[in-house]
Amino acid sequence: MVEIVKATEPVPETKYLPLPNPPYHVGIIMDGNGRWAKSRGKARIEGHKAGTENLRRILEHSVEFGVKMLTIYAFSTENWKRPPLEVMGLMNILENVIDRELMELHKNGVQLRHLGKLEKLRPAIREKVQRAIELTKDNDRLILNVAFNYGGRDEIVQAVQNLIRDNVKPEDVTEDLLSKYMYTGASPDPDLIIRTSGEFRTSNFLIWQAAYAEYYITPVYWPDFDKDEYYKALHTFSQRERRYGDAK
Ligand code: IPE
Ligand code: IPE
Ligand code: MG
Repeated sequence: MVEIVKATEPVPETKYLPLPNPPYHVGIIMDGNGRWAKSRGKARIEGHKAGTENLRRILEHSVEFGVKMLTIYAFSTENWKRPPLEVMGLMNILENVIDRELMELHKNGVQLRHLGKLEKLRPAIREKVQRAIELTKDNDRLILNVAFNYGGRDEIVQAVQNLIRDNVKPEDVTEDLLSKYMYTGASPDPDLIIRTSGEFRTSNFLIWQAAYAEYYITPVYWPDFDKDEYYKALHTFSQRERRYGDAK
């Protein structure tokens, strides 16, 4: 009896009609974990844990909605300013996520990449990140760039340092070449950047690559950014007119 009732219910998934023009590369500034926790009388770290749970769901929806590359901002070069206990909590979350989720991500065809500097992270985490990158390097269902200890200005500085190290002549420095020296290498630029929790700023995220990205800002805190909210962001993107400076 229960089965029959279930079978005649409308399938909720039908509201997510396929998007005519899904973005290839989406960047997400996963902001608002702290305020999410505070609004529930919880410690900030609980917000970070809830945010991490949410990420797992957003990865699944990314595949379903046709996104091929996702770049998540997880820890900025400025986040070291936070209280040591919070910083340590965020490091532990990264390590635990790799321990717990790596095999599942690998099984699901996710290729992991890292954007930022690994040097400042503790050796155990560095090794785990490197192992995860190596293990998943041939997967192609979804490319997940994890920006951890990442800063856009830091990225540009290291790019310039490496250009000089490689003895590149000034007249050979082009936009294309400089792009290849970024942590994102040959990846296409982000098409859409989503920021949760209502702040209208880049906070040093992909400042070189996002020159012509479309921005979508929602007041929803990251742990509450669900499938509906994600679909809304992608749908809004698909209706934007991108001009790249041209006259239309
Ligand atoms: C984003 O949430 C996660 C990180 C920056 C690591 P926040 O911790 O910045 O949350 P708010 O902005 O204080 O609410
Ligand atoms: C940006 O959020 C960094 C991450 C989401 C990892 P912040 O919370 O650090 O940014 P500000 O301080 O509000 O600019
Ligand atoms: Mg914040």
